[in-house]
Amino acid sequence: MSLFEKFAHLTAVYRDLESRTFNPFNIAFDVILSPTEAMIQDRHVLLLGTNNYLGLTHDPAVVEQAIEAIRHFGSGTTGSRIANGSYDGHMRLERALADFYGRRFAMVFSTGYQANLGILSTIAGKNDHLILDADSHASIYDGSRLGHAQVTRFRHNDPDDLARRLRRLAGVPGDKIVVVEGIYSMLGDTAPLRELVEVKRESGAYLVIDEAHSLGVLGETGRGLAEAEQVEADVDFIVGTFSKSLGGVGGFCVSDLDGFEVLRVASRPYMFTASLPPAVIAATTAALHQLRSRPALRRQLADNAKRLYSGLIDLGFELGPEPNPIVSAIMPDAQTAITFWTNLLQAGLYTNVSLPPATPRGLALLRMSVSAAHTRHQIDRAIALFAEVGRGVELIPAARISHQVPRGEITIAGE
Ligand SMILES: Cc1ncc(COP(=O)(O)O)c(C=O)c1O
Repeated sequence: MSLFEKFAHLTAVYRDLESRTFNPFNIAFDVILSPTEAMIQDRHVLLLGTNNYLGLTHDPAVVEQAIEAIRHFGSGTTGSRIANGSYDGHMRLERALADFYGRRFAMVFSTGYQANLGILSTIAGKNDHLILDADSHASIYDGSRLGHAQVTRFRHNDPDDLARRLRRLAGVPGDKIVVVEGIYSMLGDTAPLRELVEVKRESGAYLVIDEAHSLGVLGETGRGLAEAEQVEADVDFIVGTFSKSLGGVGGFCVSDLDGFEVLRVASRPYMFTASLPPAVIAATTAALHQLRSRPALRRQLADNAKRLYSGLIDLGFELGPEPNPIVSAIMPDAQTAITFWTNLLQAGLYTNVSLPPATPRGLALLRMSVSAAHTRHQIDRAIALFAEVGRGVELIPAARISHQVPRGEITIAGE
């Protein structure tokens, strides 16, 4: 019996996907032309599945800072900050994050995933309680499992259910720590943060918010949902990632709680892994500066998201509940999602397929992420391609198709 026998079903599914021209879970880009365009097997494709919300991956200042850093500091740090030391860039980025959020403490992790592992597995001890929104990202679940706390889930975005769970824990010893996200990564819906904060206040629990998809997207200055809802003072820990609106890789946590710095010698996902390389740190610091100094990017992103969302609603697609930069079309089943995805790609549009267990309620999704770098023409082209492909797989009645695919080449994205 093979070691991989336990994956027999998954292996069969994966083999089937691998036998196709395009495998949605193993796609290779031959050239990235810009934040919104790439080449895949000699096909010029419009990118609508990247999380590159502000289009900063190709920003000249970001790219230059990365090149400078690699020249001066080399390609990598070759070790963890605890064992092998920090570079000036790590500390500068932490100061920049603390300043941006107006918090006393900031800690950088090597990925957003590790930020959740590192924070949740450490702040919640054996006798403490983590209370997670049921639709939490895998990194939140894995971080909870890595520690030794008791884990409870509450119904997605349901403050009453959270209140009920906290009431049940009222007499139980240990700290209670509630974990939510700003924008949820699968359907693009936001947390009802004001109501959740009220429940948190009444119960005396701590609150962690993962702003992975809302940093640079929501809030007057782009700090995320807590800023947008004006409840930052009630949030004890903000976790986030550099891999989306900041266009790099890495994660962070900011807080004002006394004693926070002890995490540097207590959090295993911080201590026992190599620190981020100089080029990534420099690019992220430059991207954060761009995020702060160019609010027009955020406005453009919101306009683009609304345009795509309303265009797809007009066509009759069932989407997530809010027009945020994550726009997910709900498909009847996994096979249709994969066929739809393939047909879109053949037609020149790259999106993402999201399937259970990554999705809530077993949904099959065609997931898109909008960028500030998309032009109006590109958004309209994406809508038109959805119309064309939707009619092809009989997902929308022909009568609803009013969009024509704009003619001509995909234009290079500007701001
Ligand atoms: C809500 C949430 N948290 C954390 C992460 C992990 O971030 P990263 O991919 O940068 O490790 C993701 C990634 O998709 C996410 O959606």
